[in-house]
Amino acid sequence: MDLNAIKAQVDWDISQVSSIQALEEFRLKYLGRKGIVAELTGTIPTLPKEERGCFGQEVNVLKNKVVSLIEERQRSLGAMPVQACAGSVDIGMPGIAQKLGQLHPLTQVIDEICGIFTKMGFCIVEGPEIESEFNNFTGLNIPLEHPSRDAFDTFYLKDNAGSPGQCVAKRSLPEGDQVTTSPEKFLLRSHTSPVQIRAMKSRKPPFAVIVPGRVYRPDAVDASHSFMFHQIEGFLVDTNIKFSDLKGALETFAKAVFGEDIKMRFRPHFFPFTEPSAEVDISCIICKGRGCSVCGRKGWLEVLGSGMIHPNVFKHVGIDSKKYTGFAFGMGIERIAMLKYGINDIRLFFENDLRFLKQF
Ligand code: DAH
Repeated sequence: MDLNAIKAQVDWDISQVSSIQALEEFRLKYLGRKGIVAELTGTIPTLPKEERGCFGQEVNVLKNKVVSLIEERQRSLGAMPVQACAGSVDIGMPGIAQKLGQLHPLTQVIDEICGIFTKMGFCIVEGPEIESEFNNFTGLNIPLEHPSRDAFDTFYLKDNAGSPGQCVAKRSLPEGDQVTTSPEKFLLRSHTSPVQIRAMKSRKPPFAVIVPGRVYRPDAVDASHSFMFHQIEGFLVDTNIKFSDLKGALETFAKAVFGEDIKMRFRPHFFPFTEPSAEVDISCIICKGRGCSVCGRKGWLEVLGSGMIHPNVFKHVGIDSKKYTGFAFGMGIERIAMLKYGINDIRLFFENDLRFLKQF
């Protein structure tokens, strides 16, 4: 084979290449397994010994020329070279997948529940975790020394009037809050209900409010207790609000969270801030009401407390209870999440073990 004729042929052939496909054909013609370069290389052993070295070099020159012509043409055709920059970046390598994080299961449940109520017209309001004793108790018709306070064991802040402890607490309270009755005690709120007092003082009816947040109680930690947990409080005030409005709102909520088939029942109960009051049960989501170990063979699971806002609460916030009525409810988020996902230990929410968190 005449190498010079082949070189001339290479130049002609590359000048005729006008597509990626044609370029591939060109590559195969010269560099393919049965291509011209392979064929030339194969003839080397048949040459007289003294010619082999020189011919081999010539073939190598030809091969390098073909390679650089291909790269040049690839660029001019806008095709990505297989190796963008020899030895540095191999763009043909598989990418490194980014690990996406996700929301904590409690955050997911809070978002879901808030979404359900905002669709019904409720707006989200938050309050501070350091709260005045008045808002946490007295304003909610839980008087000092009243036995109902025992149900709300509470972390009190250590220092009171004039001490640094009280300063910290006072500064953390929103402006305009009436906590000046001296000496006022401060505490870690034991429920989200005190936001009723804050929100009702600063609004005129009608209003519908939902309050997600952390609450604190000095409970020993076990599978169903934690000294910090989450609640969602809800309340709605307008003229002519009836218990049936409460039932309708809570039924919409229960069906959205636990499914259309869920049943609800209202059991008479006592809460100081509502009258009448009721605890709300849903049909057991495990046994569908037939009775199992999760529901203690009752077929029902308690999910929240509720009732019609007590006139004394309205009195404390300056709302005329002859003109307005309202309902309120409060629920523990961990409990809802445990029932929804079949989680049997509240501590799992706070250990931040990825094997648990990744399941949601
Ligand atoms: N605050 C109550 C608790 O922590 C829950 C509750 C019950 C809130 C009844 C309400 C209500 O608004 O009406 O146990």
